[in-house]
Amino acid sequence: MQLKGKRVLITGGTRGIGRCIVQEMIDGGVTHLAIIARDKKSLKELSETYPEVKFMRISGDVANIDVLREAAARIEDKWGYLDILINNAGIVSAGPLEELPDEEIYDQVAVNQTAILLLTKYCVPLLKSSEEGAILNISSGLGLIGMPFYAVYGSTKAAVKQFSDSIRRELAPYNVSVTCSFPTATATDMMQKFDGMEMDSPEFVAKRSIEGLLNKELHVIFGGEQRIKDSEVNFMEPKKFDAKVAESYEDFKASSEGHKAL
Ligand SMILES: NC(=O)c1ccc[n+]([C@@H]2O[C@H](COP(=O)([O-])OP(=O)(O)OC[C@H]3O[C@@H](n4cnc5c(N)ncnc54)[C@H](OP(=O)(O)O)[C@@H]3O)[C@@H](O)[C@H]2O)c1
Repeated sequence: MQLKGKRVLITGGTRGIGRCIVQEMIDGGVTHLAIIARDKKSLKELSETYPEVKFMRISGDVANIDVLREAAARIEDKWGYLDILINNAGIVSAGPLEELPDEEIYDQVAVNQTAILLLTKYCVPLLKSSEEGAILNISSGLGLIGMPFYAVYGSTKAAVKQFSDSIRRELAPYNVSVTCSFPTATATDMMQKFDGMEMDSPEFVAKRSIEGLLNKELHVIFGGEQRIKDSEVNFMEPKKFDAKVAESYEDFKASSEGHKAL
């Protein structure tokens, strides 16, 4: 698959990994980009940065069903089809489950999971109308391995993986590919709390995820060979992984404290 001339919709394209994906798209020759994000000002600034690109700015919360319906309706009206859907917007609120505010549990499920199901649902007819459709879902390493104090975030991200596998098989007869990306710690606003820690750059995560999308890779896993080995141990011998986590329980607890990006 080539990027040139493709019509693309991305959620959360104004900051972090999404912003770098937008750069990758434009560098690859995309000239029609629809972007959903809450902050109107950053959407406007983004479109002013690239006067040569036709932006469809959709300001709103992906947790709002009307915003998602409007996005699909505007794309149908203006373009008539969609080539690439990128479900990237995400939020996090970590900590012991019993201490998480109920609203932050609901919001993480709404933004990280329900919005992806609904937006994809609304975009499927548009993707089927493309000559070669593709979906990129941004999950997380925490969607592969469930870690303490990230029970809510991790479960939404595991759902993204399962959804990606299911919908890929469902859409296979329609020439719509589905790639799921699993970043580990990446230096964005979401990880501001961990400033100074060694992390992947959002540019690298964006580049590799888009490469995966273009090559129709099913999964793009970050964190090297070790992450893949850990996932295998976690799946095949979960008690072994439990013991490993138990050794550093207090460290995991302390590091999750105050990790919020909502
Ligand atoms: N950073 C990491 O270490 C890491 C690791 C693994 C996975 N991920 C995943 O990668 C994706 C991108 O993360 P990031 O680190 O790039 O995040 P980020 O820097 O916090 O940027 C989030 C982007 O999503 C938008 N957004 C957030 N909530 C939204 C909502 N309710 N409705 C519409 N747009 C919303 C934001 O714009 P507005 O605020 O204007 O809405 C922004 O453009 C997320 O799904 C995240 O879970 C990140």
